[in-house]
Amino acid sequence: MTQFFGGASTYTNDEGIEVNQSALNLKTYFIDLIEERKKHPQNDFLSILIKNKETFGLTEDEIISQAIMMLVAGQITTTDQMCNNLYTLLTMQGKKHELWENPLLLDYALDELNRLDPAVTFIFRVSKTQTTIDQQCIKPGDVIFISTHAVNMDPRVFESPNECLFTRGNNKQISYGYGGHYCLGAKLAKREMKLCFLELIRAFPELSIHKSHLPKRKHHSLAFSGFEEFYLQFN
Ligand code: HEM
Repeated sequence: MTQFFGGASTYTNDEGIEVNQSALNLKTYFIDLIEERKKHPQNDFLSILIKNKETFGLTEDEIISQAIMMLVAGQITTTDQMCNNLYTLLTMQGKKHELWENPLLLDYALDELNRLDPAVTFIFRVSKTQTTIDQQCIKPGDVIFISTHAVNMDPRVFESPNECLFTRGNNKQISYGYGGHYCLGAKLAKREMKLCFLELIRAFPELSIHKSHLPKRKHHSLAFSGFEEFYLQFN
């Protein structure tokens, strides 16, 4: 499904049919789960939406959409970002060694790795009013694609933007968005990433990319960037 999120670069009709089926399967899955949560509420996102349905002014369909959105926003992004970070770390000369030698750099390192290869490549906005950016006139209703890669590499903001610097402070990258729609799950994703990397550093001093299964980047989605396949070698 996520291949089509934000517009696919290539797809066939058969893939379209498969994606439609996946969306329907997810919908059925959440219809059943909502029934289950109605009977046995838990301390989770879905139960909170169901309990406060009237207060939030949500229809049943909107609860399903929210659940699907949260699943997509939280799952594909985190797995993609994890792989992108690992790929940069393991392919840029000396970077893995630097981090394994000094795990205290991890928070800075993760910010910098997120900056260099964001899992969410475009953020979309629809303009409400007419405005001009540089010489470009933007009319109400125009769709704007904001490239996270381009913003993250802006030389006016980042000194030596192509370099991977684990000492870079005040890292104003927008891999988790910006402003009112800043990623709701950023803290969770960063926490997950940190725990995972701490464990990799602790357990696998010889971690590297698998020699005979080279990583395969995925190319179908305009909005999500990650890997189709990514094999690691642990010793
Ligand atoms: C490394 C992982 C993640 C990345 C790179 C990421 C990236 C982003 C970005 C760029 C946006 C802004 C979209 C926009 O402005 O249009 C966003 C929004 C959002 N993210 Fe994440 N995200 C990640 C993990 C998560 C997780 C784990 C969750 C939930 C459990 C989550 C839930 C959301 C939600 C609900 C929004 C929409 C917020 C709003 O519109 O107010 N994200 N994310």
